[in-house]
Amino acid sequence: MECKSVSTAKVAAVVGLGVGAAFIIQDSGYTLDSDSTRYRIWRTTGLQGAPVRAVVCVTAALCFLAGLWLYRVLFSPLELLKSYDEVGYIVPEGRSRAQAANEIRRRRKTGELPPVYPNGWYRVLDSHLLQRGEVRNVSVLGEQVVVFRGQDDKAYVLDAYCPHLGANLAVGGQVVGNCIECPFHGWQFQGNDGKCVKIPYAQKVPEFAGVRCWPSCEVNGQVLVWFHCDGEDPQWDIPEQQEITNGEWVYRGRTEHFINAHIQEIPENAADVAHLAHLHTPGMISGVDLRYTNSKTWEFMRHDWKVQWEPEPEPNRHCSRMLVKHALTLFGIHWHLLDVNVVARQVGPGVVFLLFNHSFLGRGVILHCVTPVEPLLQCVSHTIFYQANIPPVVPKFILKSECIQFERDIMIWNNKKYISKPLLVKEDSAILKHRRWYSQFYSENSPRLQYRRDTLDF
Ligand code: FES
Ligand SMILES: [Fe+2]
Repeated sequence: MECKSVSTAKVAAVVGLGVGAAFIIQDSGYTLDSDSTRYRIWRTTGLQGAPVRAVVCVTAALCFLAGLWLYRVLFSPLELLKSYDEVGYIVPEGRSRAQAANEIRRRRKTGELPPVYPNGWYRVLDSHLLQRGEVRNVSVLGEQVVVFRGQDDKAYVLDAYCPHLGANLAVGGQVVGNCIECPFHGWQFQGNDGKCVKIPYAQKVPEFAGVRCWPSCEVNGQVLVWFHCDGEDPQWDIPEQQEITNGEWVYRGRTEHFINAHIQEIPENAADVAHLAHLHTPGMISGVDLRYTNSKTWEFMRHDWKVQWEPEPEPNRHCSRMLVKHALTLFGIHWHLLDVNVVARQVGPGVVFLLFNHSFLGRGVILHCVTPVEPLLQCVSHTIFYQANIPPVVPKFILKSECIQFERDIMIWNNKKYISKPLLVKEDSAILKHRRWYSQFYSENSPRLQYRRDTLDF
């Protein structure tokens, strides 16, 4: 989306400048007393001479660009996609962002970590990024998968590497019916079970030929996969948000971040009540760099939070709920109109529904999804769907505000160590409760991080 806007702006600039240049060149042959209609317009408006006309044309082009920019700000979805090294690192002088991020990743003490891939549903892709016949390569839970949409409009997820000679099915592979065809020798694999159904040059397809098929579902505008370390079937469903399905709430944007931490750190934040009053109180205009968020300049704006975290009882033991009450204070005055209450319902280890219901700002949901890419690298997306009749600028502002607060947490997560036996006080008790609740997503065979001493010592 970002790229499209940039190219639209480029096209507009080229067209504007081209039209301007045409005016200037075409009129340059006329004398001052010329009687042409075009020239008369310039003369009656008093804009005579090529330089003045050039200025007018450039100004018109700039106004057009400003209009486009304004349209984008007000109406098009907000898309903030951050790269691996973009957020949450302090970059020392003389280092690039990538170097700084790599050094921190290498040197950081990890602590005694829980298993790295909990059992559950994880988002792999947003539905609108997968049109019929499209193929995508996604890294998820340390694996490479191919995600494609068959001619039946269903999304399928298979292991990406072809069992024949190992080509990546997502890199050049084509959708044929509801199968994916390997780019190397043309073997075809069925989306619904991964079975090989055609080898173009062989008389017989071996019975056992196939790739792993991931249990997947498509709901709330997202494609998700089920992971269980023992290959067990899904133990719960991702609830459907009716308002998204029936079009009452529409897509208004998404953010994507990569976080250098164990997956459990991210949801644990919900039960860490005390950090809100410290990390998230400074006004969002003070930014995301924790070295400066407490600066006196921005003290006139404050966020106040009241939260409560609770696991849900059976049969929703895999869910938990956080109730958040947010209040905004500007110059010591509490703006009641901007009080926001949010219900954050977590479903399994990888998906959270942040539900907004505000008398004045409307209703909607942010889908917060955490998907492990590698043991200590999480892809976190926030996708907002909001009441269609509320101006898009409202959900975009909500998403941006959420993004700012979230990036403050990232700076902590990217640099912290996991403490398996934390030094807690009574007021921190929800953290232990959360750890007990979250441990249900690990089982005996859940994969653990393999330490490589050589990468940790200096
Ligand atoms: S490697 Fe896929 S068909 Fe040969
Ligand atoms: Fe936080």
